[in-house]
Amino acid sequence: MRAKSAIILDLKFARDNLKQTIQTFFPDREIIDLAEPDNAARDLSGIDYAVVWKPDADLFRRAPDLKVLFSGGAGVDHIMSVEGIPDIPIVRFVDRNLTTRMSEWIVLQCLIHLRRVLPYLEQQKKRVWSEFLQPEASEITVGLMGLGVLGLDAAAKLRALGFTVIGWSRTKKEIEGMETFDATGMNDFLSRTDFLVGLLPLTPETTGLYNHDLFGRLRQGGALGKPVFINAGRGKSQNEADLHIALTDGTLGGASVDVFAVEPLPEASPLWGLDNLVITPHAAAPSEPVALFQLMQEQIGRFERGETLQFTVNTAAGY
Ligand SMILES: NC(=O)c1ccc[n+]([C@@H]2O[C@H](COP(=O)([O-])OP(=O)(O)OC[C@H]3O[C@@H](n4cnc5c(N)ncnc54)[C@H](OP(=O)(O)O)[C@@H]3O)[C@@H](O)[C@H]2O)c1
Repeated sequence: MRAKSAIILDLKFARDNLKQTIQTFFPDREIIDLAEPDNAARDLSGIDYAVVWKPDADLFRRAPDLKVLFSGGAGVDHIMSVEGIPDIPIVRFVDRNLTTRMSEWIVLQCLIHLRRVLPYLEQQKKRVWSEFLQPEASEITVGLMGLGVLGLDAAAKLRALGFTVIGWSRTKKEIEGMETFDATGMNDFLSRTDFLVGLLPLTPETTGLYNHDLFGRLRQGGALGKPVFINAGRGKSQNEADLHIALTDGTLGGASVDVFAVEPLPEASPLWGLDNLVITPHAAAPSEPVALFQLMQEQIGRFERGETLQFTVNTAAGY
């Protein structure tokens, strides 16, 4: 009987003990950690599995026999942008904990803008006691771009708080009690949206999508006066120069952004200086290694029993 295939570990996460942690899920397999200098020139042929985050450009040439590739995160743009991706299943990281944390972040940002937390903090610094207009959640329409695993969970939680939620996705969705749009309905969708929430994957179609023209098509004169932009999908979907202009010329009243074209966001970025923008360091929903390795254990078990893999990427669509 063939020995169980080793697993290539190529995760560039800043976490301790990744190798020891994955080893506990696969005690009878060798774990080849590409972060170890001894593995830099190692022959990786004959290995079936790899788990990667921003894989090295030469990984697929060095490991020509991979049968299943695991993404260290929910997004796969870090893989799709590498040349020579083999024609094998790519399993995304889909996890209850990650989904819950993303919804927490989205709900938090919507409430921050609804309840005027940024201007209140400014007032507090100046010891000013003065109340702002604060509409109820139901007066705000949140337009969710992306109705996948994360978008659907966020939609349910926003609706539970009373927000009016509408959604936009590549293929039209039927969701009870929620109006949805596909690509052809974009204008309609944007013109009804007060808070635009981005939970889209990065693909050629979504690159640079959030630009000044799009911000200008959001509803002006809603319950808070000006629209708000909230993005936790991918930074390259937003034009950051346009975002800066929209936040300073009054096209947008505020924004919350977790993802940027260049991460870490360079110190010189003018976005840091805006008092109507919340910046978080790609921390909305970090991947939890234990859950990631548990998912791999389940999926490798399925694969080796000849069962269908779950959470696979539609490589033609790019996500
Ligand atoms: N900031 C963070 O910490 C963090 C953490 C995890 C994930 N993310 C990001 O969140 C993204 C979404 O994750 P997910 O698990 O929800 O993905 P998913 O389940 O694959 O859902 C993606 C959604 O986007 C829609 N979509 C894709 N391309 C589109 C296009 N060109 N036009 C319109 N809609 C389009 C899809 O439409 P269909 O329904 O028609 O397929 C789907 O509704 C990830 O790709 C990743 O980039 C960020």
